Amino acid sequence: MLSLQRVTSSSYVTMFEANVRAMLLDHAHCEKKAASSALNMMFRYPDRPELVAVCADIVEEEIQHFRQVLQIMQARGWQYGRQMPSKYGGRLAAHLRTAEPHALLDRLLMCALIEARSCERFQLLGAGLSDPELAAFYQALFESEARHYATYLKLALTYFDEAEVRERLAFYAEQEAAICALGEDAPRLHA
Ligand SMILES: [Fe+2]
Ligand SMILES: [Fe+2]
Repeated sequence: MLSLQRVTSSSYVTMFEANVRAMLLDHAHCEKKAASSALNMMFRYPDRPELVAVCADIVEEEIQHFRQVLQIMQARGWQYGRQMPSKYGGRLAAHLRTAEPHALLDRLLMCALIEARSCERFQLLGAGLSDPELAAFYQALFESEARHYATYLKLALTYFDEAEVRERLAFYAEQEAAICALGEDAPRLHA
């Protein structure tokens, strides 16, 4: 259902538990970036009313998620702060085509796949974390990220032919799986 071509190993939960503070900090940055990407789409495509409306909703929801992560961090005495961007987003963006209308299709599919990967991992965390507060939090977030995935995909199907969307989604999912396999230098949500 999520179009992903690589399954995250269950050892991801163990990695998260060994690096809770760093993972929550990264998670906060990811939610902020998700809001920023949706806002960026609204700036880029003001002449696409369906896109503007749904991206406005996503911006609000992602900022709400960002606030929730900050609250959890603050309750544990952990500060939010600056962090180097992970390589995952930049590596995905390297495959974006720049000429329209392909640029729009690629951006929608990139956003869809990032949401799908978050959704997949939040489901693992919701089911596997031993910390009850965090497990409940990730179970709740899993549903909204699944909805965001479906929303971006639906937008792609609103503006592009289904065969073209499926073909490009398969290409992008293959790139995303290869990027996940490369990993990151530090504990990251999408590493
Ligand atoms: Fe989110
Ligand atoms: Fe999301």
